[in-house]
Amino acid sequence: MTPIKGQPGPYRFRMHKAMPDDIRHIEINDDSGDEMPSNESTNAYFGDIAASRRATLMGGIGAAIAGFIGAGPRDAAAQSAAQGATVAPGPVIGFKAVPVSNADAVVVPEGYSVQVIIPHGTPISGQVASRALADMTGADQGSAIGAHHDGIHFFPIEGREPDQGSSTDGLLVLNHEYVEPRFMHARARGISVGSGRMPLVDNQRDADEALKEINAHGVSVVRVARGTNGQWAVTADPRNRRITGATPMEITGPARSHALLRTKYSPDGTRTRGTLNNCAHGVTPWNTYLTCEENWAGYFRNADQRDGRPSLPREHERYGVPTGAGRYNWDQAAGGADEFIRFNASATGADSKQDYRNEPNNFGWVVEIDPFNPNSTPVKHTAMGRYAHEGVVFGPTREGQPVVAYAGDDARFEYIYKFVSARPFQRATANASLLDEGRLYVAKFNAGGSGEWLPLVHGEGPLTAANGFADQGEVLVNTRLAADAVGATKMDRPEWGAVDPRDGLVYFTLTNNTRRTEAQIDAANPRAANQFGHIIRWREANDDHAATRFTWDLFLIAGPEGNSRLAANATVNADNILACPDGLWFDADGRLWIQTDIGEAEQNRGALAPFGNNAMLCANPTTGETRRFLTGPTGQEITGVIITPDKRTMFVNVQHPGATTTAADWAAGRANSRFPAGSSVPLSATLVITKNDGGFIGT
Ligand code: FEO
Ligand code: CA
Ligand code: CA
Repeated sequence: MTPIKGQPGPYRFRMHKAMPDDIRHIEINDDSGDEMPSNESTNAYFGDIAASRRATLMGGIGAAIAGFIGAGPRDAAAQSAAQGATVAPGPVIGFKAVPVSNADAVVVPEGYSVQVIIPHGTPISGQVASRALADMTGADQGSAIGAHHDGIHFFPIEGREPDQGSSTDGLLVLNHEYVEPRFMHARARGISVGSGRMPLVDNQRDADEALKEINAHGVSVVRVARGTNGQWAVTADPRNRRITGATPMEITGPARSHALLRTKYSPDGTRTRGTLNNCAHGVTPWNTYLTCEENWAGYFRNADQRDGRPSLPREHERYGVPTGAGRYNWDQAAGGADEFIRFNASATGADSKQDYRNEPNNFGWVVEIDPFNPNSTPVKHTAMGRYAHEGVVFGPTREGQPVVAYAGDDARFEYIYKFVSARPFQRATANASLLDEGRLYVAKFNAGGSGEWLPLVHGEGPLTAANGFADQGEVLVNTRLAADAVGATKMDRPEWGAVDPRDGLVYFTLTNNTRRTEAQIDAANPRAANQFGHIIRWREANDDHAATRFTWDLFLIAGPEGNSRLAANATVNADNILACPDGLWFDADGRLWIQTDIGEAEQNRGALAPFGNNAMLCANPTTGETRRFLTGPTGQEITGVIITPDKRTMFVNVQHPGATTTAADWAAGRANSRFPAGSSVPLSATLVITKNDGGFIGT
């Protein structure tokens, strides 16, 4: 993600200014972007309740790690490894690490090659684009690859299993998290405009520019195949499809039809339009794609006041809906069409069926898309909770057992959640309905490596009508408040999760949190002013993913040599230093792929300078051995990774190259990235990585 977000405070003010300036001067209150903290709950930080333990944790990284890395859930083999015994070494990592880079280039290890496909603006028809991105209309964008590629999956074309079938022909499905308006619009050429902005004209947005931005959000479904020359290309297919910020969607689960979801568009609260800020993803055991709505709150605005001060309902306030301008000012699109004014969540009508006061409540969900059925309506699953969803990762599916899915809420001091389906998984009949009924839990990480899953179920614990939760729908619309009420552990920005296919351990990245103070550190978040992030992992009690107890430890503490630690005390060195882990994915052999997202305001600067451009590393979870596999071009983050079933082709996304271009440089025609392939405007795109000898990726 980027620091250029729909922020309250100074950012909002500057959005009304005609011409934002250099990224380095944007007053964003923060170093790494994303939504501002909005957790005002009084949940105890671990530091509040364990002063004696805190003394140990505050002893520095060494003391913090000594008690936790490798002390928790690791399997017997790894524990033996820590004691020096001979154990299985884990997956092979055979490549030579690439160095830290600040070059405007994609660098992969010797013996590997990269092809770039589907940059922003590529027609999904398989035809060559007839015009440059800046000259495309909003409608053109609606049938072209969107912006800011993020979570991704390759569905083998047979359509039977998410990870079995063709490795040369499939549906590539990917998220488009947000947009860079100045790179999209002809009107932006030659004018001084900073990242994430577009100037208003007569206090309005151009309607087609707004439509183009909405259509650049969402998800792409596009068939890709490898030709006889080894190169990949888009293939015409009736399943090729764009889901955008305006696509009609169905709402399912306990909050369907809830009064808090009713709008002028859907007076019965059963439908909505579009999905926004789709960050990471998930793949269901029944071969569909989940896209997760992360920093959606900033797209809206609520100007309601009481006694001259902002007055927002809790379901807006707890998520940070701005009281001034929305992120891209879509509600101010010229002409005032309903598709645009819905981003004004102020109470402008007589009741919720006359306006869009509830429109933000239709976002923050997990959205399911069936890529193999182009006529299917995407579904928003309310049972999985409403928050800044990063992604979803499933535990192992077992016939006759519940389906279990883990997800993080990526904001400072927010939580990690788990959904356990009410009905058991039966492979022959499994479908979307499994995600509509179940128990949602939130994680509490105790001192000493134990943990518990706290239920967010109406009528249980504090989640009663007397405490303001009238029903399960209200619990889910206010998931963060429910988690506050039960006493969940405030984490350092939970990003992606991954489950080790070998032992079922669950890993989550905690990307950073520079707001955490010494008094707020806890065992699971042991560093104050956490600039570099860490990775936590846990093992469910009795290896039952539906269990309500677990044991945990910290797998990795990111940062420079001397202020970081790898698993099993593996050596931290120039080949593997990393900061701000975000994307996380296990390949079939158990290699853990770690992608970094150092915010634009900090890339190659200050304490983050030693890490260079954002990168992807590969770790052996058993030994802790970690090597840098890929470095990306200027200004971007590396996010989203999948390998074909034959293990020989990897897809990786490069998001927001050139985002660090200053307003002045943009005005002068000097974007600081030319990715891909010398492009005059930097574009997000997908990398196809193969080994020159045709071997397995990572070996
Ligand atoms: Fe979209 Fe949390 O990164
Ligand atoms: Ca991030
Ligand atoms: Ca992310």
